[in-house]
Amino acid sequence: MTRAIPDGMVVAPPIDKLGRPLRDLRISVVDRCNFRCPYCMPEDLYPEHHPFLNKHDRLSFEEIERLARAFAGLGVRKLRLTGGEPLLRRDLPQLVGMLVRVPGIEDIALTTNGVLLPKLAAPLRAAGLHRLTVSIDTLDPETFRQMSGGRGEVGQVLEAIEAAQHAGFESLKLNCVVLRGINDGQVLDLVERFRGSGHVLRFIEFMDVGTLNRWSADKVVPSAELIARIGQRWPLEPVARGYRGEVAERWRFVDGGGEIGFISSVSAPFCGDCTRARLSADGKLFTCLFARDGVDLRDTLRSGADDAALVERIAKVWLGRSDRYSEQRAEMRAKGDPQRIEMFKIGG
Ligand code: GTP
Ligand code: 5AD
Ligand code: SF4
Ligand code: SF4
Repeated sequence: MTRAIPDGMVVAPPIDKLGRPLRDLRISVVDRCNFRCPYCMPEDLYPEHHPFLNKHDRLSFEEIERLARAFAGLGVRKLRLTGGEPLLRRDLPQLVGMLVRVPGIEDIALTTNGVLLPKLAAPLRAAGLHRLTVSIDTLDPETFRQMSGGRGEVGQVLEAIEAAQHAGFESLKLNCVVLRGINDGQVLDLVERFRGSGHVLRFIEFMDVGTLNRWSADKVVPSAELIARIGQRWPLEPVARGYRGEVAERWRFVDGGGEIGFISSVSAPFCGDCTRARLSADGKLFTCLFARDGVDLRDTLRSGADDAALVERIAKVWLGRSDRYSEQRAEMRAKGDPQRIEMFKIGG
């Protein structure tokens, strides 16, 4: 059964301890993935029989929708579905169809590795999904195999991009995580391929999310270095941010070849404007990508709490939030490597 926030219930949108409102909710719908990217789920650590969540552990679509309504009542306007790989969640278009009807939600996007898109792009579009982001780290077949943990072929992702366009997603965002010594030499090839395509390629600095991806500072390629390298070949000029809290720094090709973006959480943290909350597939609320643990909302849902109690619980978490890990990275790491949630449990 779906329940709306009761009419007439007045909820003040919460502002966290650093003055940030709650605007985006990123919902992980499944913790499994059909890839094993070394920067996220290294294959030696996550074999097929790794104990991922089972069906009962995961929130049902009805539970996700109920939470989305509660979050929308607190100021959330944008939803992003993530994983693991979100397209592995059965009947996902049905969930999209439920979420587009949530009052207050203006934008629903999804981040995927693309493998299952040829089958799902059209039903997702028909269900009302607004935007798609597809990950593509390299065009080189061998490097692609390495960066998907031997699970994917770059041709599948290129097909996925075509399929998405065909289904009506006109301008995609394409995410590339850059690892020094692995795919940093192939950045210009990617730029060349997608310049003028209408898609927006974004380069992401390798982050120390979770504790198992063998992060080290020397594997990070700072965006400034990439901007210089790309700009030397195709002159670039900066574009103003589209909205407060946008994570990507935007640039455009001077010759009219479109835009590219850089996500520089290591070299230029953007916590000051972070309005993002994250929900794991088992219903925990995280207020930072680098949080140690989340607050269990599944228990609240399943213990029969009414909507007012649910909204109050979420608001209380946000009011107490003071996360700004990327700005504190150096001091946090100097203190030792504490537990942090893994990226595939709360999406990107
Ligand atoms: P839109 O602007 O809505 O299109 O989305 P976006 O730019 O936030 O893009 P997306 O969700 O694809 O984020 C891109 C990548 O940026 C993610 O995969 C993460 O690697 C990184 N990222 C996103 N949000 C955060 C954040 O809050 N903190 C940090 N440190 N990194 C983030
Ligand atoms: N550093 C930066 N980005 C990451 N992603 C996953 N792990 C990392 C990491 N360690 C991003 C990828 C993917 C999205 C789901 O999360 O870009 O597109
Ligand atoms: Fe899967 Fe995405 Fe993690 Fe790669 S980054 S292992 S595609 S969840
Ligand atoms: Fe937000 Fe945490 Fe990322 Fe900073 S590190 S931008 S607080 S999610």
